[in-house]
Amino acid sequence: MASLEDLIPTVNKLQDVMYDAGIDTLDLPVLAVIGSQSSGKSSILETLVGKDFLPRGTGIVTRRPLVLQLNNIAPNSPLINDDLTETETSPDDRTGGGELTLEDHLRKNQSFEPQRREEWGEFLHLPGRRFYDFAEIRREIESETARIAGKNKGISRIPINLKVFSPRVLNLTLVDLPGITKVPIGEQPADIEKQIKNLILEYVAKPNCIILAVSPANVDLVNSESLKLARDVDPHGRRTIGVVTKMDLMDSGTNALDILSGKLYPLKLGFVGVVNRSQQDIQSNRGVEEALNNEEAFFARHPVYRTISTRCGTRYLAKLLNQILMNHIRDKLPDIKARLNTLMGQTEQELATYGGLGIITKENRAGLVLQLMNKFAARFVSSIEGTSSDIST
Ligand code: GDP
Ligand code: NA
Ligand code: MG
Repeated sequence: MASLEDLIPTVNKLQDVMYDAGIDTLDLPVLAVIGSQSSGKSSILETLVGKDFLPRGTGIVTRRPLVLQLNNIAPNSPLINDDLTETETSPDDRTGGGELTLEDHLRKNQSFEPQRREEWGEFLHLPGRRFYDFAEIRREIESETARIAGKNKGISRIPINLKVFSPRVLNLTLVDLPGITKVPIGEQPADIEKQIKNLILEYVAKPNCIILAVSPANVDLVNSESLKLARDVDPHGRRTIGVVTKMDLMDSGTNALDILSGKLYPLKLGFVGVVNRSQQDIQSNRGVEEALNNEEAFFARHPVYRTISTRCGTRYLAKLLNQILMNHIRDKLPDIKARLNTLMGQTEQELATYGGLGIITKENRAGLVLQLMNKFAARFVSSIEGTSSDIST
């Protein structure tokens, strides 16, 4: 398993079965990223989603919560391409009755071939408008941040809600949050630290939230604001993953081996070291894929981390998140099965009342669904057992 994408077929299949049985939701955990300013929160989210669309950079960039709801759509979903106004260009009338050049032909052919635009974003504050260009999504987040939180350093607790539709995402909600700050700057009020902490707590206090607690490797872990805050809401460290960013920026001669191996701070889900894109990488438009490969090479060649490199990096982090989601689904299976059983019991009773002819009708479909479900569950559990040895934290 290399990314969150790998869970898509499994979750989709399960959701189909549940949908058929009239069960609404899998209720997957929400992932929230917390940490001090510029610790690399937005960078991590972007890499996990595999798209460049979040404002990133030095200083206070994330000033409103961004609630990012990922929606998986089938590659042949009717949702795709039902808005072709921009690609269906009108026939070229410049050429009049004269000869068409090769270029004109190509252009015309292109304009008749509807382009598949199967990934897009939609903002709650701009209903009905689809953003196919993810750079434009970033610009919209920036201007919408400024509209509510001002152009200076102001923070607002009013979230920006963005939905992303794509065949390549999991149905999952991720939250990007403003960074924890100690000292007010610009137009920030004196109690800014408290305000931001309260805002973060609104999200991470929920038991259904997985906390990615980010700490930059070039700052002493004892001072990690994210871990302090996470401990307040998750005292036993059950739903917190420690993410150590900027592993490339540690002073030479020092390393984070003690942290990563869990010797310094206990978290059940452990710590993962990552190397995100630097400011320079951002300026030179280095893509997600290239960044991931560089990160992998960094750990694989590092004299200290080489030995634990399979448990380092953003790809491993995604794998860990996969495993957590899988476990969540597995924990839900008994409940789902129980509900399907009840449904089948009701159906059987109903059939008995009508003389129970055993004909497959819409009503006794639940029984078939249950059989399917049992088969699916067996396969699902064995697939988890097959992968769980990959994860040893
Ligand atoms: P946020 O404020 O926590 O959301 O942090 P950002 O993701 O916006 O990152 C802040 C700055 O740190 C950006 O310039 C990033 O390029 C840089 N940065 C983040 N993570 C790393 C990392 O692992 N290594 C390096 N060299 N730079 C990083
Ligand atoms: Na920042
Ligand atoms: Mg940010």
